[in-house]
Amino acid sequence: MLEVHDLHVAYGEAGALWGVSLELRERELLCVVGPNGAGKTTLINALAGVLPARSGRIVLDGKPLTELPPHRWCEAGVALVPEGRRLFGSMSVRENLEIGGLRPWDPASRARRRESMAAVLALFPVLEEKLEQAAGELSGGQQQMLAIGRALMARPRLLLLDEPSLGLSPLITTGMFDAIRRVNADGTAVLLVEQNVATALRVAHRAYVLEEGRIAATGTPDDLMQRDEIRRAYLGV
Ligand SMILES: Nc1ncnc2c1ncn2[C@@H]1O[C@H](COP(=O)(O)OP(=O)(O)O)[C@@H](O)[C@H]1O
Ligand SMILES: [Mg+2]
Repeated sequence: MLEVHDLHVAYGEAGALWGVSLELRERELLCVVGPNGAGKTTLINALAGVLPARSGRIVLDGKPLTELPPHRWCEAGVALVPEGRRLFGSMSVRENLEIGGLRPWDPASRARRRESMAAVLALFPVLEEKLEQAAGELSGGQQQMLAIGRALMARPRLLLLDEPSLGLSPLITTGMFDAIRRVNADGTAVLLVEQNVATALRVAHRAYVLEEGRIAATGTPDDLMQRDEIRRAYLGV
């Protein structure tokens, strides 16, 4: 459903992605793992349209996103949960969710917002008790739930997540990945980037390894775990 062909992204003169190609299949939960500085955030921001590609193509369901202006990517069905969550901290949980549900291109958007909100609160029941509280007062795990919920309010076909486990305890991370798995099982394709390789490989259907802006390996989690060089570099075994 998503095809990335020979993607190059740079910050001024400094290249960050060098010819990345990957494919995400219908209903897949795909992860891209790699060390700090590998280019994971650059990749996911480019896939969300918030960072321009220097060259290459990003195609969603046959539609070349790279030919659309950035604000049309959301309409095409892509939603991003950015690194560091980027919530509106002084606004309430409800307001953060409502902002995510603004779909100006969709005439039925108002009616569907209530339905989307109910689905998000069913996924993350703890948010329901906090609806009128400021987002900035939530715990780290709750903020991550809210960031995911806000992205889901746009009813994406493809959900992009940048390091959802960052700063969370192992227990909270496990719960977060369970929720991501449920979103995926309900029909939303998911692409997540993670430095937390062991956790990401536990939930992903397939994975790519990104190193210094290039894809270094790809396969199922089982394939990748059997490769000595990957186990040594990422799993410490
Ligand atoms: N805003 C920026 N300006 C210049 N260089 C950047 C910027 N953001 C990231 N980089 C560089 O791009 C490379 C990839 O960074 P990033 O995509 O953030 O990696 P990761 O998310 O895997 O840690 C790094 O060398 C980083 O220093
Ligand atoms: Mg990053």
